[in-house]
Amino acid sequence: MERLDKILGNLGYGSRKEVKVSCKNGEVVVDGEVIKDSSTKVDPETAVIEVNGERVMYRKYVYLLLNKPAGVVSATFDNYDETVIDLLDPEYQVFEPFPVGRLDKDTVGFLLLTNDGALNHKLIAPKNHVDKVYYAEIDKPVNEKDIESFRKGIVIDDGYKCMPGKLEIISSTEDGSEVLVTIQEGKFHQVKRMFEALDKSVVYLKRVKFGPMELDETLEEGEYRELTKEEIEALNNL
Ligand code: URA
Repeated sequence: MERLDKILGNLGYGSRKEVKVSCKNGEVVVDGEVIKDSSTKVDPETAVIEVNGERVMYRKYVYLLLNKPAGVVSATFDNYDETVIDLLDPEYQVFEPFPVGRLDKDTVGFLLLTNDGALNHKLIAPKNHVDKVYYAEIDKPVNEKDIESFRKGIVIDDGYKCMPGKLEIISSTEDGSEVLVTIQEGKFHQVKRMFEALDKSVVYLKRVKFGPMELDETLEEGEYRELTKEEIEALNNL
């Protein structure tokens, strides 16, 4: 059971004070009965709540796929930079979602946002081996030796030996190369540091896959959509 003002507040129906006024005005009906006291406790999973005659769609969690643009940080708050949360409509912000893992400020592509802590935990734990695939542009040619280094596990600048990763070459010339990198961890700047260890630099980085999901190419950078029921299930079943 939860207080009506809390339920409606979380769903974007206004602050506690505003919900209190709505109730006083007789705008809130629960199971057919006008509720004037906004501190009344109800079961949000089963109660039929109406505000101004419209049924309130209750849900606890929100799951969003964002095509992250460059220039925004993967955080819920930042003193200087725009965050991925700033890109969302208020109707989603009220759920207080957070990014699942982080992409660097200049990295683009697949980023999940949710307020489901259990799913977040599951998806970011390295022991769960969730594949993340990145498309990367590298400043130098990439070769078979590099593929082998990824396969064995690259030792990055702080001495950490990365779990084996997969490197696939899309194209490689003297001017640079395009590759796909699959890793299961998410250390700070990991892909960039893996290439630095091979004396190469990542000049463009885009995450294109995350576990069973791919970046939805119909989403422009900065756009997002809700996950489907099937997608949420697929992530939960990992
Ligand atoms: N690896 C990086 O270096 N940066 C990212 O944003 C993601 C993975």
